[in-house]
Amino acid sequence: MDGRRKERALDLGCAVGRSTFELARGFDSVIGLDFSHGFIRVAVEMKEKGFIQYALPEEGELVSHHEKRLAEFGLADTQNKVAFRQGDAQDLDPSLTDYNLIFAGNLIDRLPNPARFLTHIHERLRIGGLLIITSPYTWLPDFTPREKWIGGFIKDRQPFTTQDGMIGLLSPCFELIDDTHQVPFVIRETRRKFQHTIAAMTVWERVN
Ligand SMILES: C[S@@+](CC[C@H](N)C(=O)[O-])C[C@H]1O[C@@H](n2cnc3c(N)ncnc32)[C@H](O)[C@@H]1O
Repeated sequence: MDGRRKERALDLGCAVGRSTFELARGFDSVIGLDFSHGFIRVAVEMKEKGFIQYALPEEGELVSHHEKRLAEFGLADTQNKVAFRQGDAQDLDPSLTDYNLIFAGNLIDRLPNPARFLTHIHERLRIGGLLIITSPYTWLPDFTPREKWIGGFIKDRQPFTTQDGMIGLLSPCFELIDDTHQVPFVIRETRRKFQHTIAAMTVWERVN
């Protein structure tokens, strides 16, 4: 993003909002949007109070209680730069437009119709703006019906990857400017069970 304008950013599939607050370190204003009302409620609570309290599963029915504060992460100054709203990334409100950056973190393989999302998202970005997608490309019929997968299958007897699919769907309006970074993360399920994922990151510049 060096040298690019950092006025407006949109964080799609923001969950409880950590990435939205992080983007607001650099951007003047950031909107976090998620389909889950529950996640958005937590994100709004963090914005308004500066802290949240929550329970973590330990084992069986046992939980432990925790509190996190924006200030612990050096994010207290971002409180007034973020806003959160519930919505569907595949059917965005017309007011959500004119962004310098759109981040879709681990979202596309949770969508019922990722192609619909990818073929319309340029409408929300300024020319020269960036679309950043991270995803482990974990296609699952529970989230995305098999006929809507955009890659991760054999096509014409050759492997057809999700990146191949994204290039086809995004290339009319975007240039792929970086596909060299991986984003590892760990989801804690219980005290003794963790899920380790390595998402691929692609960065696309709107050129048309
Ligand atoms: C795997 S989580 C990723 C959360 C966060 N971006 C991250 O990387 O940690 C996927 C998120 O997308 C949200 N989501 C699923 N379908 C959505 C949709 N149609 N529109 C907006 N958000 C959606 C889920 O509620 C969930 O918070």
